[in-house]
Amino acid sequence: MKNKIEILQDKIKKAHAGGGEARIESQHKKGKLTARERIHFLMDENSFEEIGMLVTHRSTDFGMEREKYLGDGVVTGYGNVNGRLVYVFSQDFTVFGGSLSETHAEKICKIMEMAMKNGAPVIGLNDSGGARIQEGVVSLGGYADIFYRNVQASGVIPQLSAIMGPCAGGAVYSPAITDFILMVENTSYMFVTGPNVVKTVTHEEVTSEELGGATTHATKSGVTHFACANEIDAINHVKKLLSYMPQNCEEIPANLPYTVTDETRNSLDVIMPENSNQPYDVRTVINEIADEESFLEVHAAYAENIVVGFARLAGRSIGIVANQPAYLAGVLDNHASTKAARFVRFCDCFNIPLLVFEDVPGFLPGTDQEWNGIITNGAKLLYAFSEATVPRITVITRKAYGGAYDVMNSKHIGADLNYAWPTAEIAVMGAKGAAEIIFKKEISTAENPGEKWLEKEKLYSDIFANPYRAAERGFVDEVIEPAQTRTKLIKAFKMLENKVVNLPRKKHGNIPL
Ligand code: HXC
Repeated sequence: MKNKIEILQDKIKKAHAGGGEARIESQHKKGKLTARERIHFLMDENSFEEIGMLVTHRSTDFGMEREKYLGDGVVTGYGNVNGRLVYVFSQDFTVFGGSLSETHAEKICKIMEMAMKNGAPVIGLNDSGGARIQEGVVSLGGYADIFYRNVQASGVIPQLSAIMGPCAGGAVYSPAITDFILMVENTSYMFVTGPNVVKTVTHEEVTSEELGGATTHATKSGVTHFACANEIDAINHVKKLLSYMPQNCEEIPANLPYTVTDETRNSLDVIMPENSNQPYDVRTVINEIADEESFLEVHAAYAENIVVGFARLAGRSIGIVANQPAYLAGVLDNHASTKAARFVRFCDCFNIPLLVFEDVPGFLPGTDQEWNGIITNGAKLLYAFSEATVPRITVITRKAYGGAYDVMNSKHIGADLNYAWPTAEIAVMGAKGAAEIIFKKEISTAENPGEKWLEKEKLYSDIFANPYRAAERGFVDEVIEPAQTRTKLIKAFKMLENKVVNLPRKKHGNIPL
């Protein structure tokens, strides 16, 4: 018996050694943690239970039968993060560069299936040279098996992907299907084809970092939602993100205990600049209204004209979408529309109520926008809000112009409550442009056209640059003092907590992709 236990202990020791001391050292030298160290920092102490530690690959080509490592380059299992069950896979770069073999894929698929059956999130810690080159098509099949399960799990359980090293080729598509991607600055990259292939095909010279590093994907492509300073920062972001989410689509996020007291926020009464064309940072508004230090911005460096993120309101998890007047005047463009649409759909998948702050001059005009599909992309946001059945509230702080008024969670597309501040301006367009169009003849034939234009601009502005026309129609439910916004929202979200909406029966909608 003792001998048999020793055999087991020896195997466990071997599995823990991964690809060996030298490779672990090389991993550390690159500023990277090992697969097991990452799990250690992610999971609650002593909570991780490994599954499939003794799995080995089945490959026999290229002498592979002589090179086997227990676990085959990925550590999989389950455990707790802040007391909540999660499933995790962590690729081990010290074993064949974390490359994905048939059995490596099977291990990941196994925990994904368990996660779906048991209704808990999956966290992927990715660090891999891609398909195991020695295995050929079975490795490609393994990727596709994972992609398929990613899609089956989408909207059922939260899926988070932390990219801790290389992620190349088709490997990028599993993270891309998951809900959130987090990358580590300087040590992780993602691309479909690396710099060498790029050079051969397009003659462009580009480094891995420029092509697919964390900063690139956080600012230019929007592929990653977070660019983290280091691996520990990425792991902490994973934990924080999870805290706003429920375990699965049948549950609601946990409420933190909160006792409502005086929720007046007087600073909001003076936050709006005198001139309505002057910018202000909408994050100041968000931070005043959300619970202290609860706002976690998502996609912070991408499409900065719209701000999205999670926060808490009296302990309740909410998703916030806010036009950002401090960047491009908060205009809606291609990137802002897709960024916000994806966020809205995530919140709706997982029963996270939505709060919208609206201050938008409209959609950005121009050939760049039109040729890159602002019609389709703007429609994505319209679609996402319209199909969302979670509690939805909009606060119009200032401009709500044109199509953007409709799109930004208007009453007409199903918002539950629409508030406006007295500074709101709700119209087809700004007064200057409106006067130019509807009083064109009068202005051009006037003795002093400049003066006439100003007069007509004022007329249009007097009629529409306020929230009262919309309030008369009931398109705005209540015009509120900014300082009272937090109080109103706390009550309103509580009132909406049992909201039920049944969409018409269908297979699935056809969002304009
Ligand atoms: C097998 C691999 C491997 C792979 C790396 N290794 N990638 N083994 N299959 N895909 C092994 C190396 O042989 C080496 O083994 C160890 O991992 C570390 O690799 P190094 O090259 O020494 O490390 P580094 O210099 O840090 O470079 C890392 C790397 C590079 C950039 C990832 O290894 C690389 O370019 N690998 C190939 C990437 C690739 O083209 N993958 C296929 C993509 S196509 P030893 O024994 O020396 O430690 C794809 C298709 C998927 O994935 C399609 C799905 C639809």
